[in-house]
Amino acid sequence: MQVSSLCFDVVIIGAGAAGLMCAATAAQRGRRVLVVEKANRPGKKILMSGGGRCNFTNYQVEPSNFISGNPHFCKAALKRYTQWDFIGMVERHAIPYEERKHGQLFCRDSAKDILNMLLDECAQAGVEIRIHCDILGVEPLEDPPLRYRLTCHQQERPLRIDCQSLVVASGALSIPTLGGSGIGYQIAEQFGLPLIARRAGLVPFMFTDQLKGLCERLSGLALEVTVSCNGQSFTENMLFTHRGISGPAILQISSYWEAGDRITIDLLPGTDARTWLREAKQHQARQLLRTVLAGKLGRALVTELQELWWTEAGERTLAEFSDKLLMGIADQLNGWELRPSGTEGYRTAEVTLGGVDTDAISSRTMEARHCPGLYFIGEVLDVTGHLGGFNFQWAWSSGYSAGLVA
Ligand code: FDA
Repeated sequence: MQVSSLCFDVVIIGAGAAGLMCAATAAQRGRRVLVVEKANRPGKKILMSGGGRCNFTNYQVEPSNFISGNPHFCKAALKRYTQWDFIGMVERHAIPYEERKHGQLFCRDSAKDILNMLLDECAQAGVEIRIHCDILGVEPLEDPPLRYRLTCHQQERPLRIDCQSLVVASGALSIPTLGGSGIGYQIAEQFGLPLIARRAGLVPFMFTDQLKGLCERLSGLALEVTVSCNGQSFTENMLFTHRGISGPAILQISSYWEAGDRITIDLLPGTDARTWLREAKQHQARQLLRTVLAGKLGRALVTELQELWWTEAGERTLAEFSDKLLMGIADQLNGWELRPSGTEGYRTAEVTLGGVDTDAISSRTMEARHCPGLYFIGEVLDVTGHLGGFNFQWAWSSGYSAGLVA
């Protein structure tokens, strides 16, 4: 079969958030840009994000919202293209949006608005996007100014594409059905760039011990907690599910958790349970402990906690509890220690932690230090945001930074 040949200034692997932002930016500088995408349409993750409303950025973006082997790496790009720049673009396109908790910005109507905005920007700047395009390999060229050759299959047809700048925006491993792939890591390894070990982040926890049954029985129940692990804490909602625990607090802390670690859950954030129960014992001495607790935690959860913490004490009134047992229960309420058996993994994880080591990348341009013309942007890099629009902001900021020079 005849091999078709193409030649572009810039080729971008992946028509996701970072790739489309980079493509529009580079094309607006007059570069001839091609984006190759293996899926049947661009921006699938954008469409699925934020429950279909895309949490596209956050009013309060700080470097501390990002996890990376080098916590300083993200600073230059986040400064070069800020949340205000992206909000400006959203407003120019007259996209209705709203602020939710913690400065999170969502589309008021649909995530489609964000994708269409990026596609409009690309179309206006003359970007070509090829879907159903699978990369088979990349090789360096000794043919200045051309530096890289991609071999691809587009719907069974072999294709060869030469370019000056190659931008890897192929995302990470999370949710393979939405395009998650390891091609970016393969290319990094091929060109000698180090990788940081990868694992699922922003992902629910599972249990195999007695907590499994408890979570099943409480499935659907949500409450505000403070959850802590490895020196990090988040106060947000936790949700019991059929498999374990989820909800924003749990997704956030999962990015700091490693296999075998314990997490600590404060079921009464802002309440000192010792003081509260001591006072309750004085003033509501004839109440059952579970009645008092149910006022704050709900009956279903308290029934389960009773099974775990004071089964023998049964249906006692507060007056009948020894101070020692009562204070022990108070300590558990403020510091319930659990050891998840694992996470739900890449199947449901919103992000992948780790990736291409940022030590090998220029923080100003996203270009690989020892491979001129080779760029890595977005989630493929070892930069992972907290929940709340930070991962998209990283895609916009890193994509823009590379688009200015690629
Ligand atoms: P992204 O994954 O967006 O794009 C990579 C593209 O490369 C894909 O289109 C893929 O098909 C393509 N590709 C992969 N391999 C290829 C190959 N071999 N050849 C060609 N193309 C290839 N973040 C946030 O800030 N707010 C939110 O609301 C959400 N919500 C959310 C929901 C869900 C369900 C998930 C899974 C994730 C989120 N996120 C999020 C995270 C956010 O979606 C993610 O961080 C960004 O999409 C990363 O952008 P990238 O462009 O790096 O990768």
